[in-house]
Amino acid sequence: MIGTNSLSTFERAKRVFVDGTTRVTVERDPTPRYLSNGTGAYVHDIDGRAFLDLNGNYTTLIHGHRFAPVIDAVVNQMQSGACFANPTVAEIELAELLCKRVPGVDSIRFVSTGSEAVMFAVKAARAFTGRPCIAKIEGAYHGAYDWAEVSQAGGPDSWGSAERPNSVRSYKGQPESVLSEVVTLRFNDPEGAARLIAENAHRLAAVLLDPMPSRAGLISPTADFLEAVSKTAAKHQVLVIADEVLNFRQGYHGVSARFGLQPDLYTLGKIIGGGLPIGAIAGRNEIMSVFDAAGKRPALPQGGTFSANPLSMVAGAAAMRALDPSVFERLEQLGDHLRNSIRAHIAATSAPFVVTGAASLLRIHPKRRTPQEFRDAVTTPDETNVMREMSRHFAEQGVLLPFGAAACLSTPMTKADVDMVADVFASFIEKHSTQIEKISS
Ligand SMILES: Cc1ncc(COP(=O)(O)O)c(C=O)c1O
Repeated sequence: MIGTNSLSTFERAKRVFVDGTTRVTVERDPTPRYLSNGTGAYVHDIDGRAFLDLNGNYTTLIHGHRFAPVIDAVVNQMQSGACFANPTVAEIELAELLCKRVPGVDSIRFVSTGSEAVMFAVKAARAFTGRPCIAKIEGAYHGAYDWAEVSQAGGPDSWGSAERPNSVRSYKGQPESVLSEVVTLRFNDPEGAARLIAENAHRLAAVLLDPMPSRAGLISPTADFLEAVSKTAAKHQVLVIADEVLNFRQGYHGVSARFGLQPDLYTLGKIIGGGLPIGAIAGRNEIMSVFDAAGKRPALPQGGTFSANPLSMVAGAAAMRALDPSVFERLEQLGDHLRNSIRAHIAATSAPFVVTGAASLLRIHPKRRTPQEFRDAVTTPDETNVMREMSRHFAEQGVLLPFGAAACLSTPMTKADVDMVADVFASFIEKHSTQIEKISS
């Protein structure tokens, strides 16, 4: 339940924002919960309640809230100035760290959001190949760039045939020309992906691929699928862009390395900014040289008033330095423990749920079988209601579980915290058995 302070604040907000908020991703039921502060793994709302935060501003805050090294770095930087038109040493330090960690990366460009990183990676692929179109995965979210927004949602009414998925419009008025420049591929469909990439290769600059797309189900990629995409793309000189904006948190070298994918370009964001706005495009120099503006007009001009702003650079470097391999290993163990505990409750009760995810990420699906792709993960109205009830139940028990149950862990979390999450899940199954039965038929 939402407290009275959040309720009255929302009334005030509705006078200046058309829907009471300023980003579509804000969770509301129907009122959002306003937060006042966070410490470590916990946040407090303006009604004085504390919650374990399984959202972490959509997976950004891998160290939780008020991480001391980030605070120190940002305060120090502020004493020297917030931003400049000239470069600073801070950007080199973060770039050096990332170039060392991400396989096959020679150089980096910083921008201010993940959406911008995706936009510039797609443009870089166009500038490098001289081709205009991209292929992307059905249901995958890559932020707000018209081409990347195609088929980010949809259902049985719009997604078209399995052999040739439609390019689904994201908003009314999205240009028809954009839809025609995006080829939609189904996740974990090696034959279909290879066929569609090959058929369209003459016009494709890149395949945009998040190796474990969260909104499409947070489903593990099969080796066959990644191989089919990589081999077909390479055969036709189509670039592979790994969008690791969210999934870079899966390990010291990122998510592509985890699954053996060797992309041509990476996009990064979220954790690499330590909680401040950031995005990055990274790759080998042969491709990154499209950005080369030294004494000439570059093949692809890329600027941005806040690109590589020193506050994001120092915050990101402080957060990333604190993430050595042993920290990732601990997070992964915590994630395994939570996924296994929830699975044990599911097995013991025969409840119609499955868990996907890896490392510090997990997602609970109201399904009996583990989804293999977006089409399997889309929920029916009854399943959607159960998931809504699940988020409500978690909030009542003091846990912020994002709607759709895509959750992430952070380094200040303890085993006791994740045991509590598993217990809350068990109590949900017990308390809502009648509603849950409806979806198990
Ligand atoms: C995979 C992926 N790409 C791109 C983005 C866009 O990043 P931003 O919200 O920083 O623009 C997101 C955001 O959630 C994402 O998950």
